[in-house]
Amino acid sequence: PVHQDLAGKRVVITAGPTREALDPVRYLSNHSSGKMGYALAAACVERGASVSLVSGPVTLPIPPGVNRIDVTSATEMLAAVESQLPCDLFIGCAAVADYRAAAVSEHKLKKTDADSGLTLELVRNPDIVATIAARPDRPFTVGFAAETQSLETHAGSKLERKRLDLIVANDVSREGVGFGSDDNAVTLLWKTHDQIRHLELPLQSKAALAGAIVDHIADRLT
Ligand code: PMT
Repeated sequence: PVHQDLAGKRVVITAGPTREALDPVRYLSNHSSGKMGYALAAACVERGASVSLVSGPVTLPIPPGVNRIDVTSATEMLAAVESQLPCDLFIGCAAVADYRAAAVSEHKLKKTDADSGLTLELVRNPDIVATIAARPDRPFTVGFAAETQSLETHAGSKLERKRLDLIVANDVSREGVGFGSDDNAVTLLWKTHDQIRHLELPLQSKAALAGAIVDHIADRLT
């Protein structure tokens, strides 16, 4: 039996990609499968938390005991997260699209002539973890950072810029790690007394890694 160190805690987790419509048949998205976020949701339930999992479109089953809320776009994801507040812990594991189409075409976009390209106008999506971390009633807020270079520098700057309590840095350029894989390896970064500390969690299944991440969070929550 797992130690019930999250008993009585309300946890909200985002997982999977978002899809940003361009027209009735096309969208912008990314390769997130939802596996990492779903593993975190299962790990939190196992330790006694009540968990809402706000999920982009993925093909995974709902982990037992988890309240899953399905969304498509980043704006829907933010609204769904806000509908689940207040909570004690928020984990933003979703690969949220940074941009969406400035206007979604009502009809299928048509090709014009054979030679010319197509320019799409995009606008910024709201930043979900930063929005939650900026609330007066902010929960303990954990973000992820998917990076392909300068992992710790980029993750460290996201930790500060988004005012997070902890960031999980994921080097997604490594083979067998990150998007879509069953295994993952990450570095946790957080600040104590103005100093950035880190902890490397080696390659293991996303289920085992989720347990290790939640161990670290539970220590800092209580
Ligand atoms: O789903 P899997 O296939 O299992 O893959 C797992 C994963 C690689 C998707 C996951 O481990 C991961 O790294 N998730 C974060 C992906 C991401 O979008 O990272 P980012 O560096 O672009 O974003 C930084 C943080 O800001 C993240 O917590 C993200 O959820 C959040 N964000 C980003 C943009 C936005 N508009 N709103 C956000 O909240």
